[in-house]
Amino acid sequence: MTPALGVCYYPEHWPEDVWQDDATRMVDAGLTWVRIGEFAWSRLEPSPGDLQFDWLDKAIDVLGGAGLRVVLGTPTATPPRWMLTKHPDMLAADADGRPRKFGSRRHYCFSHQGYIAECRRVVTLLAERYGHNPHVQAWQIDNEYGCHDTTLSYSPAAQDAFRDWCAQRYQSPDALNRAWGNVFWSMDYADFDEIDLPNLAVTEPNPAHVMAFRRFSSEQVVRFNRAQAEILRRHTDAPLIHNYMGRVLDFDHFDVGADLDIASWDSYPIGFLSDRLDAPEDHKLRFLRQGDPDCQAFHHDLYRAVGRGRWWVMEQQPGPVNWAPWNPAPLPGMARLWAWEAFAHGAEAVCYFRWRQAPFAQEQQHAGLLRPDSADAPALAEACQVAQEMEDLETAQSRAPVAIIFDYASAWAWETQPQGADFHYFNLVFDMYKSLRRLGLSVDILPPDTDAAANYRLVLAPGLATLPDRLMQALSDPTHTSLIGPRSNAKTEEMSIPAPLPPNIPGLDARVSLVESLPPGANIPVGAGHIHKWFEHLEGKAERLVSTAEGQPVVVHANNCFYLAGWPDGDLAAELLSRLCQQAGVETTPLPEGLRVRDTATHRFYFNYNAAPVTHQGRTIPAAGVHWEDL
Ligand code: GAL
Repeated sequence: MTPALGVCYYPEHWPEDVWQDDATRMVDAGLTWVRIGEFAWSRLEPSPGDLQFDWLDKAIDVLGGAGLRVVLGTPTATPPRWMLTKHPDMLAADADGRPRKFGSRRHYCFSHQGYIAECRRVVTLLAERYGHNPHVQAWQIDNEYGCHDTTLSYSPAAQDAFRDWCAQRYQSPDALNRAWGNVFWSMDYADFDEIDLPNLAVTEPNPAHVMAFRRFSSEQVVRFNRAQAEILRRHTDAPLIHNYMGRVLDFDHFDVGADLDIASWDSYPIGFLSDRLDAPEDHKLRFLRQGDPDCQAFHHDLYRAVGRGRWWVMEQQPGPVNWAPWNPAPLPGMARLWAWEAFAHGAEAVCYFRWRQAPFAQEQQHAGLLRPDSADAPALAEACQVAQEMEDLETAQSRAPVAIIFDYASAWAWETQPQGADFHYFNLVFDMYKSLRRLGLSVDILPPDTDAAANYRLVLAPGLATLPDRLMQALSDPTHTSLIGPRSNAKTEEMSIPAPLPPNIPGLDARVSLVESLPPGANIPVGAGHIHKWFEHLEGKAERLVSTAEGQPVVVHANNCFYLAGWPDGDLAAELLSRLCQQAGVETTPLPEGLRVRDTATHRFYFNYNAAPVTHQGRTIPAAGVHWEDL
């Protein structure tokens, strides 16, 4: 499949007489997709039942007529003001119980039945009108579920729905009391209607209660999305997409993705490094205008898994954004590099956000491909360059030699009970991912219910709170190498410590007898590096691969199945993963800082995230540059 470039466009922001010129310029730039409509509800239905679709008909005609393929968004992330008058209790509530008011976006509670009915109504109208429109070749449902902390809602609607959910899951209050361990602190319930949401408690609520609420909240997103997907499916064969966000873990993206055809995510590398990644200040400064060298790749690999092979970047940062604490401009070359990196990881399309910078409202400081005066912004020339280069390069994906399991429920488990202030599941997985990439490896990400683990020479399962049986079988199969832990198989689904004690891996005589979290600076020397943040004491007779200087086991194994009893720093992870790769027959090539590699079936791509050229094995890759070779 030949990948494509596109752009996000808001016809409702501009006079009709510029649409044609905009469309022509998009096509001239080599763009083929245009996403529209996802925030336009107030212009489609200015008051209840007053439908004004003519302008959208025309916009689609103009864009489609120019040769662009339209992605049409459902506008449900931005309920208009009248919706609130009609459904005053539709707002989500924060953990303090305060309603999250009108005046920006995503002001709805996923559990509000009245709002869900309104969404069904508007999506039905759109699907009936545009489901067979030849220009509408894909649909985006809603926009960035979970953005602005909107998955968890402590509203009355959420409370009612949670009680129902508990009644269905546990069947009787007694069963729920047993599952949660409510005998502790006299927390027993006699009726499902007594169960509140786990906020505003005097001190920490029962982790089983919180975990149940997290599972429920994730399922509400899945249901909300499914309601729209089912309607669209009745009216169109075009693929259904959602645009997820980076490092948003509050709902299970694999579950939402199961109802869709293509996963996409919104990639803002510089904003993320500043705002969303935990990294030392010198790292943030070094990559200030480029973004973290692994963050984009990680999400590309994650969303390739969420989309079961089909994925896009729906929004690509083109210049400074407006929402991070600081918003530097990308180095020249980065708008090209980011697009190529996505294609190397298998993206079918990369759409820049947005076409023209809006001179009004919240995002007036957010760059586009055009300036507010319609002159070219710097990224436009880079987009044109990518479009031209794409004509000469066809590639296809191939399976990576190494995989990491990623599990949203584990993120909830360790947020619910971190035990150490800096124990973040995302960081643990991301650290391992980075270490693999620094060894020059391409990596696949797999969901926890995968059947594919056995296809990889090496599989990592760090921090996986509960190991599903099927995965456990695959990981302990001696024909390939696996690294489980730390903190894997450490909880039951109801957030208790399992019996027998973790990790309880078939054939591995090892039990975690005690865990400790370690504050910054309290590092335990091991080999070339340290264990930091988290350390588990192991008992049992399993063979040791690595021990602390004081002789405590750090890595033990049975055949090719290894268990890691702590959080390794970069140096220790590099040492350990090199050994395991060797054992697994995976070739590694340590890379200079900021240089990363991605192999496809046909090419090896090099991405230089540094502000200076890098020479590696005789080839020089320019600053903020991309280089590819036939494999
Ligand atoms: C995304 C969002 C867009 C726009 C963009 C700005 O999170 O989907 O609508 O707000 O960020 O960077």
